[in-house]
Amino acid sequence: MAVARTVFFCTTCGGESLRWEGRCPTCGEWNSLVETPRVEGHRGRGPAADARGPVRPLDAPAPLSSASAAARRPVGYGELDRVLGGGLVPGSVLLLGGMPGIGKSTLLLHAAAGVRERGGSVLYVSGEESRGQVAVRASRLGGAAVEVTFLAATGVEEIVAAAEEVGPELLCVDSVQTLVSGRLPSGPGSVAQVRECAAGLQEYAKRSGTATFLVGHVTKGGALAGPRALEHLVDVVLHFEGQRSLECRVLRATKNRFGSVEEVAVFRMTGTGLEPVLDPSGLFLTDRSPEVSGSAIAVPLQGTRPLVAEVQALTSRARFSAPQRVATGFAPRRLAVLLAVLERRARLDLGGRDVFLNVVGGLRLVDPAADLAVAAALVSAELDRPTPPGLAFIGEVGLGGEVKAVANGEERFRTALRAGLEGAVLPVASREALRSEAGAHFIAHVREVLDLLEEG
Ligand code: TYD
Ligand code: MG
Repeated sequence: MAVARTVFFCTTCGGESLRWEGRCPTCGEWNSLVETPRVEGHRGRGPAADARGPVRPLDAPAPLSSASAAARRPVGYGELDRVLGGGLVPGSVLLLGGMPGIGKSTLLLHAAAGVRERGGSVLYVSGEESRGQVAVRASRLGGAAVEVTFLAATGVEEIVAAAEEVGPELLCVDSVQTLVSGRLPSGPGSVAQVRECAAGLQEYAKRSGTATFLVGHVTKGGALAGPRALEHLVDVVLHFEGQRSLECRVLRATKNRFGSVEEVAVFRMTGTGLEPVLDPSGLFLTDRSPEVSGSAIAVPLQGTRPLVAEVQALTSRARFSAPQRVATGFAPRRLAVLLAVLERRARLDLGGRDVFLNVVGGLRLVDPAADLAVAAALVSAELDRPTPPGLAFIGEVGLGGEVKAVANGEERFRTALRAGLEGAVLPVASREALRSEAGAHFIAHVREVLDLLEEG
């Protein structure tokens, strides 16, 4: 092994530096550089020439029109296909991130079984579990899962050699943090190893046209353990989220070179693996206590589909001069804007109050139409009056306090009814479409939310 010198890698962005510095010169993070031995003549872009003979060019220059359209091949596991934008693109590298125990290996095995079921070949490599353990899981899932070709390995050169022999359509590797390349002396999970191994697998994927799924663990903060650079390297980044104690799981794409990052899929963890939830409209409403103040129901679009979600707020007297603002599942800046709007336009002064906001079920609200529900939860918490039971709040709140029109208002309203609610508060702009609906209430200004709660 030709270790020539050491370099320093940033554990946050994966940037390199020749000397140790207190602050990463690439991303500016403090104290993030770690020293790593470095292989000569190789800049982390795939296995070097000496490992496998002369470097083969990935491709030769040619007009774009000569490319065969990258045909997507459905996994055959419907909800996953939807998040991927239709299926797997040959030669693409996908990263599936999530907290330990959330169900990544299970999802991957479902995907492998899906491909196997429609006659495709799959090589499933695990560096975390033995053949026996994976076999037990496969028999729980049933179907074609038990027919998946399995290899327990951690050496990336060994995995590529096995894949070359099998020639699978889909290669699954669980997980990237357990992989080691014999060309680096550092242990598995180190920044250099993760980069090196992912680059080696990516080179194989592009060269052979094999769609490759990598599992990556994420840290408590939600970042992928190991370098962020991994996210730049791959074509698709999927995040699998949810609370371990609850059975509900949400799969979303945060990067997709071949499709939208809007779509989400919802699954339930059952005794026989993950079960897609085709109508998740009311799933996030379980265990709600409508008589408690500070809770409001939003109907955000997740991808192309509306969901019903609960927003909870709590306000209390601030103990320090700078009040705390803590938001889970909602952008803190957006929360700050809504607090300012409530103060200036609705005379609800939360300046000296600590504010906590939580979106139930591990959902993340990015749809502006959830503003009104967040505002309603805040008002309800501060006035200590529950929102009317069975009413959803749908609308975007402008800086003037006006409640703005939302996309798909009517569809959101119907989703609320389908989830068992009695109706919704909507922007006046939706009145035309929902005029004849008994459960539809229309407001023009966020101030009216206070009136509604004060009356109620
Ligand atoms: P796993 O896929 O191993 O999670 P990860 O790879 O993300 O660490 O599965 C996590 C949990 O799911 C595990 O605690 C057991 C549970 N589980 C079920 O409830 N039903 C099942 O059919 C399977 C396979 C797992
Ligand atoms: Mg696992």
